[in-house]
Amino acid sequence: MKILDANGARIPALGLGTFQLKGNQCAELVEHALRNGYDHIDTAAMYENEEAVGAGIRASGRPRDELFVTTKVWPSEVHDGAFQRSAEASLKRLGLDHVDLLLIHWPPKDNDIEGWAALLDEAVERGWTRHVGVSNFTTTLLRQIAAALKHPLTVNQVENHPYLDQSKLRDCCAELGMALIAYCPLFKGRRLFEDPTIAALAKAKNKTAVQIVLRWHLQHEGAGAIPKTATPSRVLENIDIFDFALSDQEMASLSALKSANSRLCDYDISPDWDRP
Ligand SMILES: NC(=O)c1ccc[n+]([C@@H]2O[C@H](COP(=O)([O-])OP(=O)(O)OC[C@H]3O[C@@H](n4cnc5c(N)ncnc54)[C@H](OP(=O)(O)O)[C@@H]3O)[C@@H](O)[C@H]2O)c1
Repeated sequence: MKILDANGARIPALGLGTFQLKGNQCAELVEHALRNGYDHIDTAAMYENEEAVGAGIRASGRPRDELFVTTKVWPSEVHDGAFQRSAEASLKRLGLDHVDLLLIHWPPKDNDIEGWAALLDEAVERGWTRHVGVSNFTTTLLRQIAAALKHPLTVNQVENHPYLDQSKLRDCCAELGMALIAYCPLFKGRRLFEDPTIAALAKAKNKTAVQIVLRWHLQHEGAGAIPKTATPSRVLENIDIFDFALSDQEMASLSALKSANSRLCDYDISPDWDRP
């Protein structure tokens, strides 16, 4: 497994995303992943599946210190009192005494960057998380919060796939020593399968379209991905990407698929996104 070194955090580059997985199915998939090469699980308070993720972790029998568990605090809770309650409730639901990474899920609208940084710092100091990071932050917000934090900022988790040009954010993360972790790395399972560029590479490498795209993610410096699947066989397929490589030219042909209006996750709470 490729390990990302992000300002002191050692993050397995490929993790299992768990959005929309619930109950026993979620617990069984987490257990299955942890028994088959995954060490990194991504959840959030908002996913309402932290109990199931915790059950899957325990069922796997894996030692806690081998695992990298991420959870997130929803932006409405990023103020004094609510933030601490959210983080503690996540730990209780997960059945863990700490997570490895705690993220602010989206930048809150109050723009109180010093306040957000103080809450993340407090979470480290209370031992609730080993590392802190953010999600859906722009380059401007990243630089501001990195400067305001006492503890290192390790991750920006953002939408990323070959159709979206995230080169500005990638460069900013590299400059700040952080990792960029891709959510929706498979474009939510759409379009990839009909794409002739991806299909041609899949045929040439004797791999699937999804494996080609995940390889593209992980071949970027400082980059990881957390594909979600509810299908046990795909859990195995999605990690079977370490026996081949894409050439610089093949990487470039995938990056060239970028297009305008290809962002899937854009809501009222979105910040003013970086433009390519
Ligand atoms: N921070 C944020 O704001 C944020 C936002 C969105 C997501 N996330 C995180 O990122 C994770 C991944 O994003 P996502 O779930 O939106 O999208 P995704 O991982 O890009 O795509 C998931 C879709 O791809 C399909 N899929 C997975 N592996 C496949 C394979 N080998 N072959 C064919 N289809 C495959 C899945 O189908 P099946 O499930 O049917 O197998 C599912 O429909 C989430 O689960 C969550 O942890 C974070």
